[in-house]
Amino acid sequence: MPKVIYVSAAGASTEVDAPVGTTVMAAALKNGVEGILAECGGVCMCSTCHVFVDEKFLGLIPAAQDTEEAVLEIAAIERRPNSRLSCQIKVTEELNGLVVHLPEKQR
Ligand code: FES
Repeated sequence: MPKVIYVSAAGASTEVDAPVGTTVMAAALKNGVEGILAECGGVCMCSTCHVFVDEKFLGLIPAAQDTEEAVLEIAAIERRPNSRLSCQIKVTEELNGLVVHLPEKQR
């Protein structure tokens, strides 16, 4: 099963097993990873699942759709070039070892 590694703003790593087809957000919630709130439940409306994708993996994740782009533009946390909404990142075998960095806070 693919692994996803969440790195807190303080530098602490949490590695979780994430089944193919789940989202990076859902895997975090299921495993009690702190730092992802996901207030809208994953329907791309809240931006409280904001993560910064490790550069190595950026090319492996499909580009953000228009809705995600729009939500990132108004996100409480300042957008970076590697910003994504973790509810929109589907786990695949190819993403095994994916590293995402969490903002200090989500709002
Ligand atoms: Fe709300 Fe991702 S959970 S935008």
